[in-house]
Amino acid sequence: MWDNSNKLSSSPEIMEERRKHLSSTLKVFYPSNPLHIVSAKNQYMYDESGRRYLDCINNVAHVGHCHPRVVRAGAEQMSMLNTNTRFLHQNLVDYARRLTATMPEPLSVCFFVCSGSEANDLAIRLARAHTGNKQVISVEGAYHGTTTICQEISSYSKYQSDHNVYSLRVAIPDTYRGAYRNLETAGREYAREIEEKARQNQVAAFICESALSCAGQVILPRGYLSQVYRHVRQEGGVCIADEVQTGFGRMGTDFWGFQTQGVTPDIVTMAKAIGNGFPMAAVITTPEIEASVVKTGLQYFNTCGGNPVSCAVGRAVLDVIEEEGLQENALRVGGYLLEKLRQLQARYSQIGDVRGQGLFIGIELVKNPHTLEPAPEIAREVSEKLREWGVLISIDGPLDNVLKIKPPMCFKREDADLLVETLARAFGSLDSRKSFMTPLSFVNQSEILALSSEIREVWVTPNAIITPSARDAAEHAKVEFKVMN
Ligand SMILES: Cc1ncc(COP(=O)(O)O)c(C=O)c1O
Repeated sequence: MWDNSNKLSSSPEIMEERRKHLSSTLKVFYPSNPLHIVSAKNQYMYDESGRRYLDCINNVAHVGHCHPRVVRAGAEQMSMLNTNTRFLHQNLVDYARRLTATMPEPLSVCFFVCSGSEANDLAIRLARAHTGNKQVISVEGAYHGTTTICQEISSYSKYQSDHNVYSLRVAIPDTYRGAYRNLETAGREYAREIEEKARQNQVAAFICESALSCAGQVILPRGYLSQVYRHVRQEGGVCIADEVQTGFGRMGTDFWGFQTQGVTPDIVTMAKAIGNGFPMAAVITTPEIEASVVKTGLQYFNTCGGNPVSCAVGRAVLDVIEEEGLQENALRVGGYLLEKLRQLQARYSQIGDVRGQGLFIGIELVKNPHTLEPAPEIAREVSEKLREWGVLISIDGPLDNVLKIKPPMCFKREDADLLVETLARAFGSLDSRKSFMTPLSFVNQSEILALSSEIREVWVTPNAIITPSARDAAEHAKVEFKVMN
């Protein structure tokens, strides 16, 4: 008989069992010393020894880990009935009505699925059925899911991608290190690439997150989506907003990320936050697109999608967001945190950029703020130190140098303070020897000797004159000269 006793295995034992029975494609956070989390509440997680961690990573536990209202809604419905959408059920229509009420017209038709990948996969199928075209434009570095279609439209390097003739990639509209950095004109400049792609190809859809998560917590430049949507629609394509990470009030000013850009997509996909960890997701589209799909004879059925339990959970999530004012909290606490992080940026040259909106924030780390040379090692070191001191944060972006902050939406001002203090401690402990920037055009020996115990590099202007004795002193003290761009 199988031993079902609930003994708690040690972390090494669990790792050993994972190695035996699970694919090694499944990665853990902090691989050199993985975390064994056994419980969680609100914005905190607890390991097997009862140690508390501030969770700055988890945008799935959107309204807070194990929110009692959500847990109760799921458990009560589970104990009464769980079945599929082939039977009539009040929960399904109540939830569809409630969810579509958060959307602008004409987005009013729901498809319920179980994951973000399924949602994006279906969204592409809808777009193809509606337009008769096949090609899909997506942004470099994006991740839209794990199905075959989603892999074709995702170029996120960690999960590989399956680039083929149907996938067209465009540059990340990044105003920090991208080709266009002028905040006034970047939206239009980046959209131009899409205008050309849409004109030269037979495009079914443009898919994009409303702020780019895996691509490095990038906030879209003003006017980007409105320009892109216009170009794509002009050439017969439809526009899909992937709201898996940006929806449900996270951006603070608006309930949906696309609203921050003043656009209305043709199809919206959502997951993660929608069920606070319960496996559910949705696609919402217009009656016109739905009608095209019906004409193809498609019958869509998803065994667990839209079941009475997930609808009850989804409704409870919406109730909590509204009743606890979590969107407003994201705006308030997110704004406060951004301000504190910008103060931190002024103290540490490794913090190249602080960007974000609401509780969707990124800190891009660089070796030098002039050359923007990325600092993935520093990002790793900072995240390890934070973990050691009880704060969980993740790293992302195409250069692996962006600290991502997207905590549960019940994150408080005190949590923001703790995060910033811990970050300051981590940056302060990295290396006490700092970079030294000088506009000096003449560097002599005494300057180097005066500075060399505290610095590791001296950045000088391109035409600076460095005396031979200054060079000797620098070599002796292992100080490097670097030229500013
Ligand atoms: C933006 C975005 N879209 C889609 C997905 C896929 O969602 P899921 O993992 O629920 O399939 C993810 C997952 O991380 C995501 O971040």
